[in-house]
Amino acid sequence: MLHPGWSLRLLSGGLPQFENVRGYLGDNSASLTIAARVGGSLHAGFDWDDFRQIRDWWKGRLLVKGVLHPGDASRLVAAGADGIWVSNHGGRQLDGAVSSIDALPAIRQALGAQVPILIDSGIRTGTDIIKAKARGATVAAIGRAALFGAVAGEAGVAKALDIILDEVVTCLRLCGIPRFQEAGSEIIA
Ligand SMILES: Cc1cc2nc3c(=O)[nH]c(=O)nc-3n(C[C@H](O)[C@H](O)[C@H](O)COP(=O)(O)O)c2cc1C
Repeated sequence: MLHPGWSLRLLSGGLPQFENVRGYLGDNSASLTIAARVGGSLHAGFDWDDFRQIRDWWKGRLLVKGVLHPGDASRLVAAGADGIWVSNHGGRQLDGAVSSIDALPAIRQALGAQVPILIDSGIRTGTDIIKAKARGATVAAIGRAALFGAVAGEAGVAKALDIILDEVVTCLRLCGIPRFQEAGSEIIA
């Protein structure tokens, strides 16, 4: 009642669906059932031979997402990964995992300056993006920050991105850094 626009969209469009699995599990599955089924499809036995097989099949550039350990990152690059995506997938399912921003510096150190490193999980503001850059990320990505804007549709997502980009510019100005590329570890030491 306090959010009539949202209520009207809910009435006309129905409850949100988990789009990743729409059509596979039937539209009536409760979210917990969906989460359990998706979890059940993950394979804990996936190993380095499986990774090499995928590297063999896929001729394009290959990024590996979900890396939190510098040893894994080095081994993946040695086995043919073109870049590393430091992520705990937003901490949604394994909430005790190390945060990606804490895992990042050791991974950058292990990989050297050239290997592209993406990071996500917990990036909410432009300041977070600068911190990620200062700790060694090449690119910062967002998940839920965009979804929060999506309650107001596509325009809401664009607005969320605008806010975050404005924050990046303001933060660079306040730190006295003319260009994003120049945001190094000294600003957070
Ligand atoms: C609703 C939802 C579904 C997601 N599904 C997947 C998935 O199937 N595979 C995956 O690697 N990450 C998945 N993620 C994690 C995101 O890809 C991303 O790593 C995470 O949202 C980043 O953290 P942030 O939301 O704090 O920005 C999902 C995240 C959300 C919010």
